[in-house]
Amino acid sequence: MIRADLVIVDAAQLLTMRGPAPRVGAQLRDLSIIEGGCLAVKDGLIVFVGTRDEFETQVATDQVDEVIDAGGQVVMPGFVDAHTHIPFAGSREHEFARRLSGATYQEIAREGGGIMSTVASTRAASDEDLLDTMLTRMDRMVLEGITTCEAKSGYGLTLDHELRLLRLLKQAGRQHPMGIVATFLGAHTVPAEYRDDRDAYLRLVIDEMIPAVTAGGLAEFCDVFCEKGVFTVSEARRVLTAGIKSGLRPRIHADQLTSFGGAELAAELSAASADHLDHAGDEGIKLMARAGVPAVLLPGASFCMMQRQYAPARKIIDLGVAPVVATDLNPGTCNVESMQLMVALACLNMGMTVEEAISAVTINAAVTIGRSSTTGSLEAGKAADILVLDIPNYLHLAYRPGANHVVVVIKEGDVVARDGRLTYEEDSSEACD
Ligand code: NIG
Ligand code: FE
Repeated sequence: MIRADLVIVDAAQLLTMRGPAPRVGAQLRDLSIIEGGCLAVKDGLIVFVGTRDEFETQVATDQVDEVIDAGGQVVMPGFVDAHTHIPFAGSREHEFARRLSGATYQEIAREGGGIMSTVASTRAASDEDLLDTMLTRMDRMVLEGITTCEAKSGYGLTLDHELRLLRLLKQAGRQHPMGIVATFLGAHTVPAEYRDDRDAYLRLVIDEMIPAVTAGGLAEFCDVFCEKGVFTVSEARRVLTAGIKSGLRPRIHADQLTSFGGAELAAELSAASADHLDHAGDEGIKLMARAGVPAVLLPGASFCMMQRQYAPARKIIDLGVAPVVATDLNPGTCNVESMQLMVALACLNMGMTVEEAISAVTINAAVTIGRSSTTGSLEAGKAADILVLDIPNYLHLAYRPGANHVVVVIKEGDVVARDGRLTYEEDSSEACD
């Protein structure tokens, strides 16, 4: 018999997401559902997933500490948010209000606002304050069902500040139950002090920041904001190639505001992902499909930027690219912690089916950030990163947007949130590094 310390029984739908990873094309619509499904956890790992009958005959329940009755509810893997910018201080609601009155993101950036305004508040914040705001942000993410996220630096933009943000991210990951995968985004913009010598900034990123990031083991990925007025395709290529040589896998903010060649560059470099893609053209998408580069779609950014044009998700899926959907959580273009809202936006504004969107926020997202061996699906041997949602079937995730349907969040076997409240003690024993 299989021994367990926590079991979940009788889920109306248990979305196991077992099967191909990443999912493409028609595979995206198969959530490998077990109706009336049960699941058992031991020492943080999933040890059993199956029907009630199989559970009865295979799982020993005498040493179980907790039985969660998921009758009438949906059980699914924790959300994997594959694109966030969580290490930042301050907020930009006044810019947001200006955009509501017609100012554009690019205009605000040219005036010294935008990313540079967050860089200023982030540089000015103490380690303690930055860590605190990050942990609070992560608390909100967990309450929304996010159990693992990718997180980028990019609001430091000096050697010391970029390294500081990545160190604080690491520390937040140690203190908080949510898993973090770090990305170095020193090429987020050319900081104001280098405006007249952008090449000097690129050399700083390539010759000093990237080697220091890898020497410190501070990130797995390297990202660039490849966009008109930010970094050109050839500049992005230089940064990402240097990252690859240092062992950082490339990902790209591509074709977010204009059609700029980011998707093509992602294909050329076999990037871990190309992200945004709101203005990506057919050719770039076809090249991504051929190179097996997943597309991280960020409908929350398009929504909060009041864009009419969302990423061409249907074309992306039909051409065989693996779609991922993420929040892009950041203070400028999408200050939203809800993956559930992203699922709804993916369906309502990008034409994805609910099944495709769920594949995109679980198993496909896990593949993109290099964590599919441990999370993204409910299978024996994987970490017990599990959600219980108070909905009778998964369609309600998109059908009832704006609500937090998550009632239980389990991270590596521990219940970390229940009924909208956190249930873990933060490990604050560590002082700032
Ligand atoms: O993903 N596009 C670049 N970076 C962020 C926005 C950053 C900001 O405005 O602070 C994004 O949308
Ligand atoms: Fe982003």
